[in-house]
Amino acid sequence: MNTIIIFSSKYGCTADCACNLKGKLTGQVTLTDINKSNIKIEIEKYDTIIIGSSIYVGAISKKLRTLCHENIELLTQKRVGIFLCCAFPEQANDYLSANFPSTLLKNTKTVKMFGGEARLEKMSFLDKLIVKSATKGNYKNLKISHESLEDFVREISV
Ligand SMILES: Cc1cc2nc3c(=O)[nH]c(=O)nc-3n(C[C@H](O)[C@H](O)[C@H](O)COP(=O)(O)O)c2cc1C
Repeated sequence: MNTIIIFSSKYGCTADCACNLKGKLTGQVTLTDINKSNIKIEIEKYDTIIIGSSIYVGAISKKLRTLCHENIELLTQKRVGIFLCCAFPEQANDYLSANFPSTLLKNTKTVKMFGGEARLEKMSFLDKLIVKSATKGNYKNLKISHESLEDFVREISV
């Protein structure tokens, strides 16, 4: 299996999940940070495409959203998995339908919410205020679900 994990992360949580996934998948796995990649991502070269993004104010990364829309025909012919890092995984359906083409969602092998982390020490003043207010001060309870990550690995691999 020849896999690419394309991810977007602002404070490192999604990047760590992508890295963790890479370690658990078999075959050749390429890790690509869409925010650092200046060259065109050659999706056609891979059998499996994994897209991972954090959610900010209901939205995934704009670059990832563009990538999905521009490559929708190709993506629907591939094995695709989507994971999101966010504070409110119970809002998964809203996040998915607002950010991904419905044809892509219908053709995915697996979609998982990994939960999230609030890395306050790295955040801008405004982002700290937003995350504290949105979580009603319970930002320390945010965590990654390793169970979801393991489920993702199992489902993308069959
Ligand atoms: C300014 C800000 C806005 C956020 N907006 C949302 C949101 O709308 N929905 C949600 O579920 N989580 C939201 N989050 C939580 C992040 O998605 C979560 O902390 C995630 O793990 C961050 O991943 P990253 O470190 O890879 O950027 C927000 C966090 C911040 C700091």
